[in-house]
Amino acid sequence: MLLLCIESSCDETSAAVVRDGRQILSNVIASQVDVHARYGGVVPELASRKHVEAISVVIGEALERAGVDLNAIQGVAVTRGPGLVGALLVGLSTAKAIAFARDLPLVGLHHIEGHILAALMEQEIAFPYLALAVSGGHTHIYRVDGIGRYQGLGRTLDDASGEAFDKVAKLVGLGYPGGVLIDRLAAQGNPDAIDFPRPLLHQDNFDFSFSGIKTAVLNYVRRQPGPIEGEHLKDLAASFQKAVVEVLCRKTWRAARETGLERVVVAGGVACNSGLRRMMSEMAAENRGQVFFPSPGLCGDNAAMLGVAGEHYLAAGYRAPLDLNAVASWSL
Ligand code: KG4
Ligand code: ZN
Repeated sequence: MLLLCIESSCDETSAAVVRDGRQILSNVIASQVDVHARYGGVVPELASRKHVEAISVVIGEALERAGVDLNAIQGVAVTRGPGLVGALLVGLSTAKAIAFARDLPLVGLHHIEGHILAALMEQEIAFPYLALAVSGGHTHIYRVDGIGRYQGLGRTLDDASGEAFDKVAKLVGLGYPGGVLIDRLAAQGNPDAIDFPRPLLHQDNFDFSFSGIKTAVLNYVRRQPGPIEGEHLKDLAASFQKAVVEVLCRKTWRAARETGLERVVVAGGVACNSGLRRMMSEMAAENRGQVFFPSPGLCGDNAAMLGVAGEHYLAAGYRAPLDLNAVASWSL
């Protein structure tokens, strides 16, 4: 099938055209980062307004880049949740309007389902696998036995890993979104310079906690006589990143060993992190397993990632009703 996919759960307005759930013909992403940067985080009301402004243009661009007309589209897949409810409603209402006007089948999907299946669009990965979903709103480990067959094994008890990156970046004055800025600085610093905690590392579960690391960074910053700059800032970034990455990697591979799974897929915006990619690959080799990452454009929020599940459910005959509502909090 030729699907139009729409994603607007947070601060990216995205539309994609995907053929047969795997072939990405276009994947247009309009980021609102510049709008929210001055506030140090996403402002929900502004996000909704920007989605309204962008959505028709982004969809038009996605069709144009794919070289197809709306008449050729055979189904619509849209993010239904979780996310900012006003933001979600823009994408969902648009998807419903197109489905109604064109008499097309519609499916509303879970945002994290999109993330943890995205790697399948670029690589052959056999089920079952373990998925680590790491983004601004999520840090979850799932066992993935097939499309629609997910079992949550662990999750963060407080902040998401991306949120920790963003908050630490903000508290050392780096700006928003902070993950990529910390990543860049960390590459030039000494990861063993400052000993930040590794919360829950030795507990017998697959849950995470990142607010403690963030508080440890805050306390460290407060103890310094002046602002942290230059080499010191690089060392802080590298040490913080190592603490987060080490917990993510050790817990994920322990979960892989205990569930007998050899394949790990890392997904979501934080999957772009170079330290995470490096340590995940090293631990895959140590554990005689394999790790897969989507390419950077498919890690962060994008509509194409909805193509895999969208195709699966629509091809199986699933049809969402036109009174489908957005869901701000929704576990997979
Ligand atoms: O998946 P995503 O685009 O949106 C959500 O669903 O949240 O993830 C965004 C998160 C942000 O917290 C951002 O700082 C983080 O991913 N991120 C990174 C990197 N690139 C993006 N975190 C660490 N290192 C990176 N290179
Ligand atoms: Zn996301």
